[in-house]
Amino acid sequence: MTTSEFSNTNLQPLFPAEEIQTRISQMGAQIAVDYRDKNPLLIVVLKGACIFASDLLRAIDLKLGIEFMAISSYGSSTRTSGEVRIVKDLDVPIEGRDILVVEDIVDTGLTLSYLLANLHARGAASVKLAALLDKHERREREVVIDYLGFQIPDEFVVGYGLDFAERYRNLPYIAILKDPAA
Ligand code: IMP
Ligand code: MG
Repeated sequence: MTTSEFSNTNLQPLFPAEEIQTRISQMGAQIAVDYRDKNPLLIVVLKGACIFASDLLRAIDLKLGIEFMAISSYGSSTRTSGEVRIVKDLDVPIEGRDILVVEDIVDTGLTLSYLLANLHARGAASVKLAALLDKHERREREVVIDYLGFQIPDEFVVGYGLDFAERYRNLPYIAILKDPAA
């Protein structure tokens, strides 16, 4: 029997690869217009946003820079604990820079509200957010998403960078994980 990770029966497809690309092209075009006279610094939140970011970057026809941060909200379950910690910090000062944070998903908003405030406090000229997914029903902290890919229902999703316990980041599409215990 052959095993396929990508057509695993525990996955219910939500957004196919083509639909994701189309949406990201639109987001990139809008970002290029909004930042046309600027030199934004995109801060990619590892690891989940890396695939989204690699496609988004190539859809923004502008002079820009990229840096990476890693944030931990503890644990590898399907729920965020609420405690946030910077695991990998920036290597450069961001004073006076126009920052665009690139994140995979905003769920409770705890991670992003912490990170956006932290970046503001470092003296950035502006701090905006591009997020691929918004699970709005679960919000506990208000977070303004300046560039959003898709709204999603309160389901646990994987693929296109998003994981469940480090699995499924390599799926080329986004799927609902039907049974996390399986
Ligand atoms: P928040 O702090 O609750 O907004 O959670 C943000 C982080 O939780 C995201 O960056 C993801 O790493 C993770 N997360 C939340 N929902 C999901 C999901 O449905 N699938 C995969 N990861 C998720
Ligand atoms: Mg993440």
